[in-house]
Amino acid sequence: MNYTVVLPAAGSGKRMKADKNKLLLELFGKPIFLYTLEVFQQDSNCDAIWLAVKEQERELIENYVKRYNLTKVQGYATGGTERQDSVRACLEAIPPCGVVLVHDAARPFIDKEVIANLVETAHTSGAAIAAVPVKDTIKKAENGIISETVDRNQLWMIQTPQAFRYSLMLEAAQKAHNDGFMGTDEAMLVERLNYPVAIVESTYENIKMTTPDDLIYGRAILESRLQ
Ligand code: C5P
Repeated sequence: MNYTVVLPAAGSGKRMKADKNKLLLELFGKPIFLYTLEVFQQDSNCDAIWLAVKEQERELIENYVKRYNLTKVQGYATGGTERQDSVRACLEAIPPCGVVLVHDAARPFIDKEVIANLVETAHTSGAAIAAVPVKDTIKKAENGIISETVDRNQLWMIQTPQAFRYSLMLEAAQKAHNDGFMGTDEAMLVERLNYPVAIVESTYENIKMTTPDDLIYGRAILESRLQ
């Protein structure tokens, strides 16, 4: 089943302790965001790729897109102050489609099967997000003292991609904006509309390149895939 993907790529390198957008850091000589783009370029179900980028980085990113022959990239939106603003800018820029997938450009190791499951679920039920079961014991603490051990059997660590019927996601994003509501993922915006969001099990390899240790893990993942 077909889809359009929206990739927010307008962040910084703060938590990565980099002096530039962390997506431009290289793994084995190639910027991180290109690994992500190639997954979608190579997926025959992906109709179009849209990127939210910083105005001052647009030319650089466009040049990479041309050099790597990423022909599915159809357009760019200007990213905002927060990730949610960048995603909304992209959603408002793309031509209406059946299912839209929102995926962090900073997650280059997404699995194709997970994408297919998400798209299929979003086509049938409207909203589906990638997640993995929590592995550790989770406790709540107040002032450094445990107040509760949470039952982890019901807990999921949420990732992207998050897949939605396009009209639903656009409505949710615009309503959040009008209400001044800031969520930490797209699903939160859809949940506010009382719309059920399904979980699709993903892989632990689908990390978001966030802090310097993720670069070490990222290289190890790439090496293991070459074997
Ligand atoms: O900062 P964080 O790792 O949570 O960002 C997740 C994704 O959102 C990254 O791909 C980043 O480039 C993007 N982002 C964005 N606009 C922002 C902040 C983050 O497109 N204002």
